[in-house]
Order: sequence, then structure tokens, then C-alpha cells
Amino acid sequence: MRVLGIETSCDETSAAVVEETGDAARPWAIRSNVIASQVAIHREWGGVVPELASRQHVRDICLVVEQALVDAGVGWSDLGAVAVTQGPGLVGSLLVGVSFAKAAAAAAGLPLIGVHHLAGHIESVPLHNGELPLPAIMLVVSGGHTSLYLVQTPGSYELISRTRDDAAGEAYDKVAKMLGLGYPGGPVVDKLARQGNDTAVRWPGTRFTHADRNAPQLKGDLDFSFSGLKTAVLRHVTVRREQGPLSEQDVADICASFQRVVVKTLVERTFAAQQRYGARSVGVAGGVSANSRLRADIKAYGDAREIPTFVPSRQLSTDNAAMIAAAGLRRFRQGFTSALDINADAALPLVLR
Ligand code: KG4
Ligand code: ZN
Repeated sequence: MRVLGIETSCDETSAAVVEETGDAARPWAIRSNVIASQVAIHREWGGVVPELASRQHVRDICLVVEQALVDAGVGWSDLGAVAVTQGPGLVGSLLVGVSFAKAAAAAAGLPLIGVHHLAGHIESVPLHNGELPLPAIMLVVSGGHTSLYLVQTPGSYELISRTRDDAAGEAYDKVAKMLGLGYPGGPVVDKLARQGNDTAVRWPGTRFTHADRNAPQLKGDLDFSFSGLKTAVLRHVTVRREQGPLSEQDVADICASFQRVVVKTLVERTFAAQQRYGARSVGVAGGVSANSRLRADIKAYGDAREIPTFVPSRQLSTDNAAMIAAAGLRRFRQGFTSALDINADAALPLVLR
């Protein structure tokens, strides 16, 4: 069976065809994965402008889907289902994908599968690496989320911690903005950090000892927080600029020092969760999993403890439709389909099953 996946939750219009392989250890193969990025449009504004994003999705969606079918060498009659990101995300952007997917499923007589965006990110890990040894701890780290999930059975995700304020990717984007490095900030900070001294500035990481009043069901000590670090960077940059303009080396040092704290926090908390829950493997998904230091450090930490760690390819780290198609296939095989009257949901919960 082949599934057409559609992703329009933020500023990438993407469509992909993913098919089943019949191999339980590596269940899916990517036939195509087309991504039309809107970065050039939003860069001018320093961040994603929701209204511009949804309008561009409308312009791009038909061609992107057609290209995904052409690249895969298939027609509508070769598909078994249509999977689409139903939420969370920018509601106007989500609506374009959801409306297109509903219309396509109805016209082609195919089942529709609504997919949670984070379930898609999580699926990028087995899509690239094959099924993980379970139980697994999954770190989902993107522009909108920074959370740890316990995966005991395939396709079921138990939230064990999350950020209390900014997501890690959001902190990258804001630090880049302060330094005048443009949008999106993650890739450029990652690149500059490689030329910097990561202990030039010693910022502390945040650690919680108590539960969050808004989430008393979580113990809270594995939660993340990045807004204090972001403010510390801002204060440092402001004070330094009063003394004169920042040199290229200053900027690289700030990027490296910031990145050291973010990555250290992510890696240590992920492995604290791995130990606590006796997980047999660790996965990292979401846009920040493209980060070179995070990829290297999590692997080194895992190797030292003999815990296998898995990251998606860089292309599968950031938003794409192949991960949505794979998550849709998993849901479909578990007996789930969506009604044709589903709506885009900007705050869709990642349902526990
Ligand atoms: O998963 P994603 O494409 O979209 C969301 O669902 O949010 O993640 C985008 C985020 C942005 O904040 C971007 O700056 C960050 O991922 N990102 C990175 C890197 N590449 C993308 N952060 C750090 N290092 C990178 N190499
Ligand atoms: Zn995403």
C-alpha cells in the first residue's frame, strides 16, 4: 500500500508518497518527498507571517502534490490513502492541507487519515532508521515544541516532560535575531558555533525541582526552560554592544556558548529520562535534530552508555510530508481513519492510545 502525505502546518508546503515494504523491521520506503520552502518570503519579516504562509500554501499545494506523484511514478489509482497534518500549527496553513486532503480523498475514493504533527516528527526516526528497540525515549525538539515522550508500543506516546516556556528552536531563532543573523536562526547559529569558543561565556542551564502548577500530573524535574537563557544572551549582547560593535569572533563565541548550554540540557535530560524509564533506545526528532552538535553529542553520550541513539536524516528532521505519510500508515494499520468532516486544529492533542 502507498500513502500520499500532505504537510502544511507552518512555512513548508510538502507532499510525499511513502509505501509499505513488507519488512517489519523497516516498514516503509520513501518514493518521493517534495518540499516547497517559504523561507525566502518570511525572511524579509524576521519570522513566519501566518497570513502570507497560508496564501503561499494555496499557491503551491497543487503543484507540490502533482510533483510528488510524478517523482514517485504513481497516479491517484495507485494510492491507498491520503494522510494530512491536522494540527497543531498555524490554523490558516493547516486548513490548506486539510481542505486539499479532504477533497482529494473524496474525489479519489480514498480513506483520509488525520495526523498529529509531532507524531509525524517522531515517525521520521523509524522512517530513516527502521523500528527502534522499545521502550524508547523520544526527544521532540522543534520551533514550537521541546518534549520528551516514552514510547512503549509503536505509535503510542506518553508525555513525560516539556518546556515550560520557549521551545529550543524558538530560542535559536530569537538568539539569531538578536545577533542580526536572520531567519530561521537554527542553521546559521549551528554553522557559526563551529568557529566559536563554547566556553567564552558561561551561562547556566535551567533545572526544575518541582512540578508545574499547570501540569501537576508530570513530576516536573525533567522539564525544560529556555527563556532565561535567551534573556541572559540578550543582556550579554546589549552590554557588549555598549562597549562597541561585536566582531565576527564575538558572534561565533556567543553562538557556540549558547549552543553548548542548549545541547547539554537536551542531552542530559533525555538520558535522565532514559535511565528513569529503563528505555532501550533514544530518538531525537524535530527541526533542531538537524543540529550538528546535538547529533554528535547525543550519539557520543549514548555510545558511552551503550544505549543506541537514532536521529532522522537532515531532510527528514525539518518539516516534510514523508514523516506524515509514515505516521498515517502506522495509524491506518492500527485501524484508524478520519471522517471527511475533520477540521484543522491548531492545538490538537497528541492522543494517548
Ligand atoms: O520541525 P520544524 O521544521 O518546524 C516546527 O515544527 O517547528 O523546526 C523548525 C525549527 C526552527 O526553530 C529552526 O531554527 C530549527 O528548527 N532548526 C535548527 C537547525 N535547523 C533547524 N536548530 C538548530 N540547529 C539546526 N541546524
Ligand atoms: Zn515541525
